[in-house]
Amino acid sequence: MAAKKRASVTDTTTKPEPEKPKPETNQTDPLIRPAKFFTISKFFLVFSIPYFFLILSYYKIEHDLKKSILINAVISCVGFFITVSLIPVASKYVSRRNLFGYDINKKGTPDGSIKVPESLGIVVGIVFLVLTILFQYFNFTADSNWLVEYNAALASICFMILLGFVDDVLDVPWRVKLVLPSIAALPLLMAYAGHTTIIIPKPLAPYVGFDILDLGWIYKLYMGLLAVFCTNSINIHAGLNGLEVGQTVVISCAILIHNIVQIGGSSDFEYKQAHAFSIYLIQPLLATSLALLSFNWYPSSVFVGDTYTYFAGMTMAVAGILGHFSETLLIFFAPQVLNFLLSLPQLAGIIPCPRHRLPRFDPKSGLLTGTNDGTLVNLFLRQFGRKTEKSLCILLLIFQALCCGFCFLLRWFLTGWYK
Ligand code: UD1
Ligand code: MG
Repeated sequence: MAAKKRASVTDTTTKPEPEKPKPETNQTDPLIRPAKFFTISKFFLVFSIPYFFLILSYYKIEHDLKKSILINAVISCVGFFITVSLIPVASKYVSRRNLFGYDINKKGTPDGSIKVPESLGIVVGIVFLVLTILFQYFNFTADSNWLVEYNAALASICFMILLGFVDDVLDVPWRVKLVLPSIAALPLLMAYAGHTTIIIPKPLAPYVGFDILDLGWIYKLYMGLLAVFCTNSINIHAGLNGLEVGQTVVISCAILIHNIVQIGGSSDFEYKQAHAFSIYLIQPLLATSLALLSFNWYPSSVFVGDTYTYFAGMTMAVAGILGHFSETLLIFFAPQVLNFLLSLPQLAGIIPCPRHRLPRFDPKSGLLTGTNDGTLVNLFLRQFGRKTEKSLCILLLIFQALCCGFCFLLRWFLTGWYK
């Protein structure tokens, strides 16, 4: 590769000495700003103080379970630092292979013409897989049933990372993108041997005549559809620096708090195991995502790519399915559901759908204006007025956190009455 780019020197006697070629690395290597640890630590502190208070002090969790959760937390922490150190290295490699994008919301400014390395989700995905595979050594030694499902879940996540990366490299048409997660979900759907029953909500039970309904294969279909929804809904609620990873971080925090509250409040061992299972996947997701956010936060030094959006969506879907809290997960996903509903006319082809449905950027004022494209990003701009990219992203993340808070409130009100 390098030889092709070097100038050929044929006649050194008549021509002046050719300029020494610069090492190829310096010509294409992207400018990566230092990780924004301060921003990340603010995010993390708000979550981790109540989270570890619940685990260590508030609830009386069995010693073994607590030990597994804490070992997983330590491994995740190590994963954070590995991801932080790998992202700048990987950025050079993806840029050299022409995997980069232009920051559309900075078009017309010097930052808009910089080649930003794309698909850094691949680093997060690989570190996540290594962490979760190694974690098996510390858990599941006796329970082979869980081991099968855990590995099937990892196979689906791994398959999704592969297909996401394929999408980034080949730029698959977006209607094909919609079906990729259903292929990736196959390992999980085929290996799933858990129950396929749902509990009928108490207010409905007298009308239906029974409390529990066995859905059989329909349950598996539901699992597949949930995976398709979670992955694509994260991917289309995107396009602002920090939004793809930020929403994953907020939802992951909400899932972890929910899991601990359920473990702490239950005496059913199987129920606790299901929620612990979710924790073992979401803690590494949160840690590695925070590492990516430290480079992807405004102004982004790297883009996450569909590799990340699919990977994050699939991991949360798998946690929700095997942790048996998919209804709660869908309420955590309320902004994504809203964005999906707003997008439907364009996704269905009723209204033309451009390649990017992003706001309009004014380089003079540095503000974004909402367009008529059906996205939550544009709706917020139309409702709340023009904003900078950073403040719009923060507003959307606060909205995400409020929806998660609303979900906890709803669960608290409905406990005992609904199920
Ligand atoms: C989805 C959305 C598309 C949106 C895009 C942004 C649908 C149907 N598709 O497409 O409307 O524009 O995500 O991610 O809703 N980018 C930025 N700033 C960022 C992040 C991304 O400018 O903070 C741009 C970069 O040029 C980057 C590109 O978006 O290269 C990545 O787009 P991609 O993820 O391939 O778009 P889709 O997922 O197909
Ligand atoms: Mg995308």
